[in-house]
Amino acid sequence: MVYALVLAGGIGRRMGDVNKPKQYMNIGDKPIIVHTIEKFCLYEEFEKVIVLCPKEWVEHTKSLIKKYIATSDNVVVIEGGSMRNETIMKGISFIENEGNLNDETIIVTHDAVRPFVTYRMIKENIEVTKEFGACNTVIPATDTIVCSVDQKTIAQIPDRAELYQGQTPQSFQALKLKELYESLDDDEKEVLTDACKIFILKGQEVRLVNGETFNIKITYPYDIAVAESLLRGIAQC
Ligand code: CTP
Repeated sequence: MVYALVLAGGIGRRMGDVNKPKQYMNIGDKPIIVHTIEKFCLYEEFEKVIVLCPKEWVEHTKSLIKKYIATSDNVVVIEGGSMRNETIMKGISFIENEGNLNDETIIVTHDAVRPFVTYRMIKENIEVTKEFGACNTVIPATDTIVCSVDQKTIAQIPDRAELYQGQTPQSFQALKLKELYESLDDDEKEVLTDACKIFILKGQEVRLVNGETFNIKITYPYDIAVAESLLRGIAQC
């Protein structure tokens, strides 16, 4: 069984002083989170699309879905967690409570603030995870990445040919992710903000799926302007 987890539990600190979490800001004529959920509703294989958001935004999110998305019968909205991985774990608990958590269960986790995810990325995430157990959507790094430990001088310049930028979706065998997460101590949980990193540190394979440069994460006010122009570009195609 395959579930989508739309991760919307954050509050968007880096967006600055806005009166709502960034996923509820509009691009085009509707909120970012609606654009994202719509993409997952287009894919028919999902048992459920689980949207996880801050507790005080659950009712608002439900009303947005009702207002904007006609084909939302399999969408549920529940409370997220205090850290991104905790939000994912709440999604897995929901699946477990439905009696559907077993070796075959796959979750496609996606940032609510990446509204330009495509059908192709979702499809490939599911195919690759069915075969290999975990994957991360990535694009090749275009800038040279420099590494600094003291924040003053360069310690290393890794070979760009080996570097990629991580995006989402990230997809996993849900039971395996839960077991690996539960094997971490509190300090490790604090540091391992990326779910794929949990797999890597525990010696598990994570496959790559091709992302797109336009699959941006809306983080800063500047990204809203970029998203608006991407949306206009798509509308003109
Ligand atoms: N997220 C989540 N639960 C959390 C924290 C983050 O589901 N406890 C989600 C965010 O809502 C977002 C995605 O993870 O869709 C990527 O995180 P990020 O861009 O860092 O979002 P925020 O944590 O909201 O932003 P900031 O770090 O600026 O506060």
